[in-house]
Amino acid sequence: MSDAVDKIGGPSPSSKAEIKGYFQSIALPVITDPRGDLTFVEGGNHIPFNIRRVYYLYNVPVDAQRGGHAHQELEQVVFALSGSFRITVDDGHTRTEHFLRDPRKGLYISKLVWREMDLFSQGAVCMVLASQPYDESDYFREYQDFIKAVGQNS
Ligand code: TYD
Repeated sequence: MSDAVDKIGGPSPSSKAEIKGYFQSIALPVITDPRGDLTFVEGGNHIPFNIRRVYYLYNVPVDAQRGGHAHQELEQVVFALSGSFRITVDDGHTRTEHFLRDPRKGLYISKLVWREMDLFSQGAVCMVLASQPYDESDYFREYQDFIKAVGQNS
């Protein structure tokens, strides 16, 4: 392990992500260097699933609202690689707001979580690591359908 990882205090590259709720902040390792910082992520290691898809949002207008859906099975970790934005997550019982602005820190979102994203800064880049390939049939796009599924799962 690099000393730089110890100094910053993130998880060691071999630590397994442990998830206890429907969302969780995940801090990635960083290798500091006068030439610039380097962060890396390993599926199944720093995040609790194997990465099957990566997508990113960019050229996002500052007044845009994204998300507005939940998933039956998909798990994701969301990062602000550049700039910042707000992400609101809701498990059907509790709603919390998170401001992402540090490329080392992602927000894990479990299945059956409604998410909304807004307040994008100019030039923000949002990267998402996902546990499954894109599948429209995995989406709940209506909040009432999501709430019904939460009820059936509890
Ligand atoms: P959506 O997931 O609704 O975007 P967001 O939550 O960021 O607002 O997806 C927007 C459109 O892009 C929708 O038509 C589905 C399509 N899409 C893909 O084809 N593949 C993907 O991996 C993703 C995430 C979306």
